[in-house]
Amino acid sequence: MKTRMTEALGITRPVIQAPMAFAAGGTLASAVSSAGGMGMIGGGYGDADWIDQQFGIAAGARVGCGLITWKLAEQPHVLDQVLVHDPAAVFLSFGDPAPFAPAIRDAGVPLICQVQTLRDAWRALDCGADIIVAQGADAGGHGEARGTFALVPEIADEIARQNSKVLLCAAGGITDGRGLAAALMLGADGAVIGTRFLASHEALVHPRILDRALAATGDDTLRTRVVDVVRGYDWPSRYNGRVLSNPFIQKWHQSEAALQRDAKSEAAKWAAAQNAGDPDVATAFVGEGIGLINAVQSASDILANLAGEAQECLARAVSHSER
Ligand SMILES: Cc1cc2nc3c(=O)[nH]c(=O)nc-3n(C[C@H](O)[C@H](O)[C@H](O)COP(=O)(O)O)c2cc1C
Repeated sequence: MKTRMTEALGITRPVIQAPMAFAAGGTLASAVSSAGGMGMIGGGYGDADWIDQQFGIAAGARVGCGLITWKLAEQPHVLDQVLVHDPAAVFLSFGDPAPFAPAIRDAGVPLICQVQTLRDAWRALDCGADIIVAQGADAGGHGEARGTFALVPEIADEIARQNSKVLLCAAGGITDGRGLAAALMLGADGAVIGTRFLASHEALVHPRILDRALAATGDDTLRTRVVDVVRGYDWPSRYNGRVLSNPFIQKWHQSEAALQRDAKSEAAKWAAAQNAGDPDVATAFVGEGIGLINAVQSASDILANLAGEAQECLARAVSHSER
């Protein structure tokens, strides 16, 4: 499946696996890259030892690494520790990429910037991003309010106006070939996919939490700050995270001030549940696309199905329009 992105990145399927913090390690990233996509280590909050370990597990496969930008700004040396591994790309999200873009460019590493608004896309273009990821609100994990379906073409048009060499990926709600084909139709060169790869054999996720997620529909997810409050993460107020609802989330959603007051005991309870895989308390960051996922698969099967179905969808669209 060829697009401008497969040509530019030397991959065979126009899919970048999302750098999911805590869930996307070297095993998943290397499996995705070996199957023709681009795998990403979820460097998240910048634990450099963990990132080193995951590059070791990926054992020389061409994988990239993602970092949460506002956190990187507090510990900029982490970027140097990532660049030592000669990553296939660096994927920055949630904050201003400008302070980090020169070092990434100087290292000859492609810069991927995930954005949630048109204004952030302008910033990414100014910084010299090679790939912009337009992330809609249906996405799993952190993000903002805009929907994927209008954000992607709006940014596609802006890229065409400003610098048509820049590539565009859509993110948010893409779990199967229909979604991938739609992303291409909206003007993207590929897709960034998280939730579908979370339900893979290679992801780092507790099986009981995954089982609960697989039984859910897209209606069972919501955007909330509860998990950041309970973990004591100081996320900028514009972002919240899409998670699977459960009794813990239902108790504290929109009661975050009260949660803050009980933070110490609730944090201990939440951390224990996360380790034990207690799905009533622990958190699954999943997107609305979870309602389209019914089974755990290998990363290579996921990619093969995505690409096969997308090609069928695109061929069908062409044959319908020829009638
Ligand atoms: C479990 C999980 C963890 C995530 N962690 C991160 C992260 O650390 N950094 C990041 O840039 N995006 C993160 N994301 C968001 C993804 O980059 C991407 O936008 C999203 O997964 C796309 O939507 P989808 O989940 O519907 O495929 C995460 C997503 C999930 C599902």
